Amino acid sequence: MSDEAADARRVAVKAAITAAWDRGAADYDRIPRHGILHDDERRAWRRLVAAILGDATHSEVPCRDVLDVGTGTGTLALLAAELGHDVVAVDLSEAMILAARRKSIESGIGVDWRIGDAEDPPVAHGSMDAVVSRHLVWTLPDPAFAARAWRERLRPGGLVAVIDGTYPRLPLPARLLAAAAARLGGNDDADEHAYPAEVDSRLPLMTQRSPAALMEVLRQAGFERVRSRGLGEIDRVERAHLGLLQRTADGWRRYLVVGRAPRG
Ligand SMILES: C[S@@+](CC[C@H](N)C(=O)[O-])C[C@H]1O[C@@H](n2cnc3c(N)ncnc32)[C@H](O)[C@@H]1O
Repeated sequence: MSDEAADARRVAVKAAITAAWDRGAADYDRIPRHGILHDDERRAWRRLVAAILGDATHSEVPCRDVLDVGTGTGTLALLAAELGHDVVAVDLSEAMILAARRKSIESGIGVDWRIGDAEDPPVAHGSMDAVVSRHLVWTLPDPAFAARAWRERLRPGGLVAVIDGTYPRLPLPARLLAAAAARLGGNDDADEHAYPAEVDSRLPLMTQRSPAALMEVLRQAGFERVRSRGLGEIDRVERAHLGLLQRTADGWRRYLVVGRAPRG
């Protein structure tokens, strides 16, 4: 394939991804495990973000420059800003950024919202203390390129923290239950965010069943001390709010992967 054809394909894939999220923006925060729907979920997410970044509302913890890539409706960005950090949040989808901006105006929590590509974020090199993302990496066509871009945006020793989930292949009865549960619960996530098949086939981390591939991508990009852990507390709190059918069929397990940019 010529370079031009490859470029045109990349642009088409990004356009399809953007269009899908533009369509999904209005309902996104109502979907369990995407939006934060309950106080205990909110507390669990806030604790997690504070554990990752520190709580800068305490005077002894420094405020950090944080970049949230693929911010969507701004869940991580708003939590980080509420904890006293200076946050730039980037998303391809204008509709998602609009929804995030609305929440930030309503709550009075300031975030610098920008439309842009997580694979080439519109912030200066060496300007960030942390790059964070939630539920993004599975939908990146070129995670290796993105990881290098994140490392470049970080100051020496800066933190990368990626939250995503694994989707273990459930046995057929559980998959049928999951589909029924999604429809019954009005949580037709799969339909709402479905990409065309040719887009799916270009997303290398989409079908990962562990964080191993992402960890390798980060190491290859030059990140050091790359580690992962499960986010059982978040899973437990969120699952407790699912209906019985949804809970039985639910195979999603969250993980956090962290790493550090080299000190120089
Ligand atoms: C599953 S949503 C996650 C949103 C948010 N981070 C959250 O935790 O709720 C995926 C988001 O990534 C955005 N996205 C996908 N590819 C992107 C890219 N290359 N650059 C920036 N945003 C992207 C989509 O527009 C969408 O808002």
